[in-house]
Amino acid sequence: MKYTLSIIKADVGGFVGHSDVHPALREECEECLAKAKKDGLIIDCCRGEVGDDIAMIMTHDKGLESEEIHKFAWDTFTKMTEAAKKYGQYGAGQDLLVDAFSGNLKGMGPGFAEMTFEERPSEPIIVYLADKTEPGAWNMPLYKIFADPFNTIGLVIDPNMHEGFRFEVDDLIDERKIVFSLPEEMYDMLALIGSPSRYVIKQIFRKDSDEPVAATSTQRLFLMAGRYVGKDDPVMAVRCQSGLPAVGEALEPFSFPHVVAGWMRGSHHGPLMPVGFKDDTPTRFDGPPRVVAMGFQLKDGMLVGPRDMFADISYDNARRLALDAADFLRRHGPFEPHRLPQEEMEYTTMPSIMKKLKDRFESA
Ligand code: F6R
Ligand code: MG
Ligand code: MG
Repeated sequence: MKYTLSIIKADVGGFVGHSDVHPALREECEECLAKAKKDGLIIDCCRGEVGDDIAMIMTHDKGLESEEIHKFAWDTFTKMTEAAKKYGQYGAGQDLLVDAFSGNLKGMGPGFAEMTFEERPSEPIIVYLADKTEPGAWNMPLYKIFADPFNTIGLVIDPNMHEGFRFEVDDLIDERKIVFSLPEEMYDMLALIGSPSRYVIKQIFRKDSDEPVAATSTQRLFLMAGRYVGKDDPVMAVRCQSGLPAVGEALEPFSFPHVVAGWMRGSHHGPLMPVGFKDDTPTRFDGPPRVVAMGFQLKDGMLVGPRDMFADISYDNARRLALDAADFLRRHGPFEPHRLPQEEMEYTTMPSIMKKLKDRFESA
């Protein structure tokens, strides 16, 4: 049987500032999900959370970009916004960029990652949620999971993975996409995805079928809204085992807290720290950016889980390294490469400063 997995997320209010979500928003979200399940709109669901973002993880038979599913998510975020307003939450409704829903969530603010696939006899899936960063943050881990034999030994010794995978890369600025076949085109793809603010891995496929094995949310808010409302804190899902990367191979890249764009005011580089659910609250300098991993076994479309995959002590060194990297980068204060280059910054006073100084520049 084919199922669609939809992960739809938004920040509709932070508690306190941008660090967490208020229990009233969680309650509203869970009530809406329970009703959608009871009404038969969705098969199963789970609420996920990281920092000030709430994600609805849902299984259903309505396919990709379904109007019904996306409208349900929009209405749920709208109700959560009401709860956020009631409790004076910060930035209530911040990711709902348009007045009314139409068609699907593209360009409307909430992020989504979706895949439709035939459920295997056993279907382990990891759902990753990140806060204070952008969709390109998944480029390095996805490359390692599906293309790097130093991370994924299965690419070398599992005959079912030895051929490699196909990667869809989206150009977020010119709104176009390209599919690479790896390992043959590894160097070409790396030339693009090494610029994660522009080129983002959107989906990964096996070579012998069009069924996706991984999907990410790629919408960048400033491109959709004409102005920058916040980094589009991203989500992704990775299917695992039996000819796909093992669960441990899908988690292994996060043992290195690589540097991503985001953090304070969406305008800084910082380490992506893997954390257990209880530590998903970015506080220091509104960060550092962090990621949680929710493990599920899918059974007849039901989401059996979640397991808190990064709570394990084997991620303690990654957290320690991330905290050291955070100390190191913070000491650069307003200087690059801690602060992002001008064109990448979510906030900028540059035009007004240049306007003020324009008559004071002399030829040198
Ligand atoms: C980053 C983020 C926060 C805010 C910061 C300032 O994605 O959400 O770091 O940018 O707290 O927020 P405002 O401008 O709303 O005061
Ligand atoms: Mg926020
Ligand atoms: Mg956020």
